[in-house]
Amino acid sequence: MIDRFHRNVTYLRVSVTDRCQMSCSYCTLQEEPREVLSAREIGELIRVAGGRLGFRKIRLTGGEPLLRPDLVQVVEEVVATREIVEVAMTTNGLLLAEKAEALARAGLRTVNVSLDTLDPARFRELTKAGSLEAVVEGLRAAKRAGIPRRKLNVVLLGGVNEEEVADIVRFGGEEEVEVRFIEHMPMDDSRLTSWRVDPDMVRAKLRDEFGELQPIATEKSGGPAELWLIDGVRVGFIRAISGPFCDRCNRLRVTSEGKIRSCLLSGGEVDLAGVLRGGASEEERAVELAALFQIAADAKPPVYELMRDGAVPMRQVGG
Ligand code: 5AD
Repeated sequence: MIDRFHRNVTYLRVSVTDRCQMSCSYCTLQEEPREVLSAREIGELIRVAGGRLGFRKIRLTGGEPLLRPDLVQVVEEVVATREIVEVAMTTNGLLLAEKAEALARAGLRTVNVSLDTLDPARFRELTKAGSLEAVVEGLRAAKRAGIPRRKLNVVLLGGVNEEEVADIVRFGGEEEVEVRFIEHMPMDDSRLTSWRVDPDMVRAKLRDEFGELQPIATEKSGGPAELWLIDGVRVGFIRAISGPFCDRCNRLRVTSEGKIRSCLLSGGEVDLAGVLRGGASEEERAVELAALFQIAADAKPPVYELMRDGAVPMRQVGG
């Protein structure tokens, strides 16, 4: 789907729940979970997005997707649309060990596990409810289950993990996962801007440790990450603040209650749930949904405006 600024929107991120066991310091905003889309409703959206609008990649996010008892069914619904060539999930990893095999069988191909520190005590402090060991077990289970692409999402946090970046890259090598260093975005509380770490400093630190870094050409479908090969590990930097990539943004997001968000950081919401639950035939609903997707794509701002629309709770939009 082409938006007003000629961006080709092919990537849909679907939040499947607002709930999460963790309560990360940079991602807390307590809200009651609302009525979420069912697996079948998500399947219907994906048929429209993939079949009619040219979407090719789906990522399931949350909250924590694995808290949904029917997540495997959601994956099956997504995979059933054959135009979708990449099915990914972002997870905190706590429940991954027990679910990896079923997810792999259902067709999940890429899993991003959020892991900001390798220090168990620091991990617990940061996440409140997390067990580092469970997350590492989850990563290993994903590998054993044959989920081919596994990545670590590491939010760079000053005073928390900036000294750990070399260890995290080595860990990526040992566990055969890619690493994504994500610049912290002050989403809902400007006090947290003090946490920002300059990604160039991190890169300099890695160069001191591992020698000259080799750039990897970003594929055409290229996500926002700037990729480097470091000590044999694919390492990406996602610099939403210091190097915005809005001009290349190819995504829309669906919230767990069924609204399209045009932009992670700004832009309005377009409700899909009303159409999904309305009385029209599936064909009529598809036409209406397609039109709503286009409205949401056209509402994508050319460049995000941080915090213009007030707080954006990450746990509702899944990053
Ligand atoms: N800035 C950057 N990344 C964030 N995430 C959550 N909150 C923020 C933030 N304020 C990351 C999580 C997870 C992904 C969905 O987004 O760590 O990996």
